[in-house]
Amino acid sequence: MKDIIEKLEQRRDAAKLGGGQARIDAQHKRGKLTARERIELLLDKGSFEEFDMFVEHRSTEFGMEKQKIAGDGVVTGWGTVNGRTVFLFSKDFTVFGGSLSETHAQKIVKVQDMALKARAPIIGLFDAGGARIQEGVAALGGYGEVFKRNVIASGVIPQISVIMGPCAGGDVYSPAMTDFIFMVKDTSYMFVTGPDVVKTVTNEVVTAEELGGASVHAVKSSVADGAFENDVETLLQMRRLIDFLPSNNTSGAPEWPTQDDPDRIDNSLDTLIPDNPNKPYDMKELILKVVDEGDFFEISPAFAKNIVTGFGRVAGRSVGFVANQPMVLAGVLDSDASRKAARFVRFCDAFEIPIVTLVDVPGFLPGTAQEYGGLIKHGAKLLFAYSQATVPLVTVITRKAFGGAYDVMASKHVGGDLNYAWPTAQIAVMGAKGAVEIIFRADIGDADKIAARTREYEERFLSPFVAAERGYIDDVIMPHSTRKRIARALAMLRGKSVEMPARKHDNLPV
Ligand code: HXC
Repeated sequence: MKDIIEKLEQRRDAAKLGGGQARIDAQHKRGKLTARERIELLLDKGSFEEFDMFVEHRSTEFGMEKQKIAGDGVVTGWGTVNGRTVFLFSKDFTVFGGSLSETHAQKIVKVQDMALKARAPIIGLFDAGGARIQEGVAALGGYGEVFKRNVIASGVIPQISVIMGPCAGGDVYSPAMTDFIFMVKDTSYMFVTGPDVVKTVTNEVVTAEELGGASVHAVKSSVADGAFENDVETLLQMRRLIDFLPSNNTSGAPEWPTQDDPDRIDNSLDTLIPDNPNKPYDMKELILKVVDEGDFFEISPAFAKNIVTGFGRVAGRSVGFVANQPMVLAGVLDSDASRKAARFVRFCDAFEIPIVTLVDVPGFLPGTAQEYGGLIKHGAKLLFAYSQATVPLVTVITRKAFGGAYDVMASKHVGGDLNYAWPTAQIAVMGAKGAVEIIFRADIGDADKIAARTREYEERFLSPFVAAERGYIDDVIMPHSTRKRIARALAMLRGKSVEMPARKHDNLPV
């Protein structure tokens, strides 16, 4: 018996060494942790249970039958994050560059199936060179199996991809179909084809970072939802994110104990809005003062900064926040902001996370660049997402809500359950200057008349009351009471239930 146990331990030790100490050292030298070290950091201490540690590839091409490494380049299993079950796979770059073989894919498919059955989130840690070149179509088939499961699980369990090294070829498309992608700055990159292929095909010379580093995907392309400094910070932030997410689409938003009084008043909010309506202020200040303990996890903070999206908690329960940001482009809605917010709203709706929308928007961004870029379709995505959402929707207009953007930003008309406005709100088709120049065009030469007309327009329309008189705004609330009013609204809406007509699926303007 002792012999058998010793042999098991030897096999386990060999498997844990992956591609060997030299490759582990090389991994560390690049500032990266190993697949197993990453799992240790992501999960609660001692909670990891591994599957398929002894799986080996079955390839016999190119001398592969002589190179078998237990585990075959990916570590899979489950564990807990702050006591809640999660499934994961972690690519081991020390084994054939983490490349995907038929058996490697089968290991991933097994945890995907298990996560779906158990209705628990799945996290993929990527550090890999794409399809195992020696296996050819067997590897491609494996990718297809993984992709299909990503789609079947979409909207049922949260799926998170963390890019912690190279991620090329087939490896990029699985993350692209998950809910969130996060990257590690300077040591990770994602692209369909690498710099060498790019040079051959297009003659373009680029580095891996320029082609698909975090500086590209978290800032310009929006493929990634955020980037962190190193492996350790990234994994700790993933633990924080998981705390905000439900286990599945029917479990409801998670709740955590909080010391923060939901009735907390914040008098500083009464002076947040500057006297000059064209002066910016930081909408994040309002979010941080509304959420429990100032704890806010921002999604896509470096892309389309004119809109802020992210998770916070109110009275202990997760809430998705969508907020125009007057500090950037005056908080205008453009194509990027619309896309970013639409995706976030759809995630929250799919997973029953209530949405709080904070509005200060001067309208949609005019111009050829936006129109040529498809602003109509992109703006429609956000309008569609809100109109389709059945989760509790609480909206607070702090200042401007102009034009079509008023409708889009979770107005009463598209499904807002409780729509509040601060006394400083201005709800109108457009600002006073533009409006007067159109409807009183004949008076344009007469400065006094124009000034009088402008004052008249401002007094009549640039307030919350025209909307409130029609019931489009449920109440005009004091800024200092915003947290309390939101908390009460969310508590009242807890049992919200809305039936949509039966259909196969909608046809979102993608
Ligand atoms: C087999 C691979 C491999 C792969 C890397 N290795 N990629 N083995 N299949 N795809 C092995 C290397 O041979 C090497 O083995 C070890 O992993 C480390 O690789 P290095 O090249 O030394 O590391 P590095 O310089 O850091 O470069 C990493 C890399 C590069 C950028 C990922 O290896 C690379 O470009 N690999 C190929 C990427 C690729 O084109 N993949 C196929 C994509 S096509 P030794 O023994 O020397 O340590 C694809 C199609 C799927 O994925 C489409 C589905 C939709």
